[in-house]
Amino acid sequence: MTLERRGQYTASMRIGSVVYETPFVLAPLAGLTDSPMRRICRRLGASMVWTEMVSAEGLVRDGAKSHELLAFAEEERPIAFQIFGARPEAMAGAAARVATLDPDVIDINVGCPAKKVIRGGAGAALMREPALLREIASAVVEAAGRPVTAKIRSGWDADSLNAVDVAVALEECGVSAVAVHPRTRAQGFRGAADWSVIRDVANSVSVPVLGSGDVRTAADALRMLETTSCAAVMIGRAAVGNPWLFQSAETLRRTGAIADAATLAETLATAMEQLNLMVEAKGEHRGVLEMRKHLVAYLRGFRGASHLRAELVRIDGHAAVLERLRAAMDEYTP
Ligand SMILES: Cc1cc2nc3c(=O)[nH]c(=O)nc-3n(C[C@H](O)[C@H](O)[C@H](O)COP(=O)(O)O)c2cc1C
Repeated sequence: MTLERRGQYTASMRIGSVVYETPFVLAPLAGLTDSPMRRICRRLGASMVWTEMVSAEGLVRDGAKSHELLAFAEEERPIAFQIFGARPEAMAGAAARVATLDPDVIDINVGCPAKKVIRGGAGAALMREPALLREIASAVVEAAGRPVTAKIRSGWDADSLNAVDVAVALEECGVSAVAVHPRTRAQGFRGAADWSVIRDVANSVSVPVLGSGDVRTAADALRMLETTSCAAVMIGRAAVGNPWLFQSAETLRRTGAIADAATLAETLATAMEQLNLMVEAKGEHRGVLEMRKHLVAYLRGFRGASHLRAELVRIDGHAAVLERLRAAMDEYTP
């Protein structure tokens, strides 16, 4: 991965032969960043997307669920597949398997705080096992046949802040970029992300560093680029229901202008587009059900929409939800 700089900010980012259009990418979010959300975010300006984490053990056992999580459309490229696991052989086997689907990047999860994952020695547990993490990273790099990245935390807890050491070790193992979510495992998702850790990591490795955590607005995204000198900003929760954030961050970076927020009409149209993709990808029942949390997020912040939100999470059936969204367009837009 190489970077060109224009002024203070990254002008383009490259991983392997892929040049990224902007430094704003979609973070992996389990249960949220499925193929429909990734497609919408790519259409609206995310320059790269991550799948949610997928179990290496599941992949080597050929689990249908793991494979379903990796279904993607060509328009999502460049895409990173994220895998998690604690056994180097399983991680290498999973990397070799998913490589047959030809993702642009394979990413190693070194950050998941969930008990189930930690108990198996994977995710953020690897922050405490540098020797094992080295083995895993080297094995995945060898098996992947494409750039490998890793997403880490600031450490296991406040007494073991080792993100810099971990990132340096990963670079030595051949990893092409490191994403940093600067909270400890002990913090989970509580408290503020400590962006100074992103800066420390960016100053300590020569591979590009992606920063993650608490970017809610275009101004936050720019501030992260400026204050941490990360190569790219990963946006997670704030992109749910606001896929325009990538574009508005890029507009701000290029022109200094704050883009207008999406109108309710644009928001409803995009929500309909995503609902259609959800139903196509998952079938009507699951598609409609899983779309509910996105619909709630899309309508967040619109005054007077609480009634509509409450209604939408109760309606069953693709056609009925579409009809309600269409009616809302007529009802609420001039
Ligand atoms: C619901 C949820 C699911 C997540 N799933 C993953 C995951 O599968 N893999 C991963 O590396 N990080 C995962 N994360 C962490 C995010 O990628 C990101 O680092 C974190 O949420 C901070 O960024 P944000 O404030 O922009 O959301 C998850 C976070 C949340 C809230």
